[in-house]
Amino acid sequence: PTIYGITPTYARLAQKADLTRLSQTLMLVKNFHWIVIEDSETKTSLVENLLKESTLKYTHLNVKTHKSKHSTVMDVNICVFKTETITTSWYCASGVEQRNVALNWLRGHLKDSDDKRGAVYFMDDDNTYSLKVFDEMRKIKKVGVWPVGIVGGMRVEMPLVTDGKVSGFNAVWKPFRPFPIDMAGFAINATLFLLHPEAKFSRKVQSGFQESEILKYVTTKDDLEPLAENCTKVYVWHTRTQKPSILNPKKLKHPPLPDDHIEV
Ligand code: UGA
Ligand code: MN
Repeated sequence: PTIYGITPTYARLAQKADLTRLSQTLMLVKNFHWIVIEDSETKTSLVENLLKESTLKYTHLNVKTHKSKHSTVMDVNICVFKTETITTSWYCASGVEQRNVALNWLRGHLKDSDDKRGAVYFMDDDNTYSLKVFDEMRKIKKVGVWPVGIVGGMRVEMPLVTDGKVSGFNAVWKPFRPFPIDMAGFAINATLFLLHPEAKFSRKVQSGFQESEILKYVTTKDDLEPLAENCTKVYVWHTRTQKPSILNPKKLKHPPLPDDHIEV
C-alpha cells in the first residue's frame, strides 16, 4: 500500500529550506506518494524544480487562498475571504482549500487505480517526521492515531489508551474539541475517502477544529487505532521554522552585494 502525504505550501523565505528537509526525509520512505499543493495562483519553478530534483513520486497542484485580512476576536482568528463575487468572514486556518483539492485529486486517482489501498497523512511542510511514523501508518485499518511532540502548549499531546483502545486525550489547548489532536497525529485509510466522498475540510469551523472536521466523516473516537506502542512514543514533532529577519540593505552603511539572482 502507498502512503499519500498531503502538504500545502506557500512562498516565504524559508520555504526551500523547509521543503528540502522534508523531501529528503520522504526520499527514505518506501511506497510514498507526495501531493504538494501550492497556495498560489500558479505553480512556482522553485517548488517544481525541487520536486523534479527529488527521487520522489509526486503530484504538484496549486490553489490560492483568497485571504485579504484577519483579526482576532475573542481568541478566534477571523479571516476575510475575497472571491470575484463575494466577501465573507470565516475562521482563519491554513491549508483548507489546498488539502481539499488534494483529496479530490486522490479520489480521481484511486478510482482509476487497481490498488485502492493506502494511508493518507496531512503533513505541514515544517514539521519533523521520524521514519518510524510511516511504519506505524502501514498498520492502519481505518484511522490510526499517535502522540505529537511540542504542540498545543505541551511537551507531547497524545491519545490516552486503556486496554488497547483510545479512552481519552491528554490535551490542554481547546480540550473540548471532538478530536483534540493535531493534524500530524493521525492518518486515514485512503479507501475511506472513496466511501465518504463528502469528507473534506471546512472554512466554517473555528481554528483548531480542522482535524475534528475531517475525522468526523471517517471515524468515531471508539474506532481510533492507537499506534506508536499504544501512544507512548513520539515519532513526529510540530516544529515551526522561525521567521527569518533580514536587514534592509538600503538602511546599511556598508550594503552587501545584490543577491536577487540567487534562489534561496
Ligand atoms: C497548525 C496545524 O499543525 C496545521 O496542520 C494547520 O493547518 C494550521 O495550524 C492551521 O490550521 O492554521 P501551524 O504550524 O500553525 O500548524 O501552521 P503552518 O505550518 O504555518 O501551516 C500549515 C500548512 O499550511 C503548512 O504546510 C504551510 O506551508 C501551509 N500554509 C500556511 C499555506 O499553504 N498557506 C498559508 O498562508 C499558510
Ligand atoms: Mn507548521
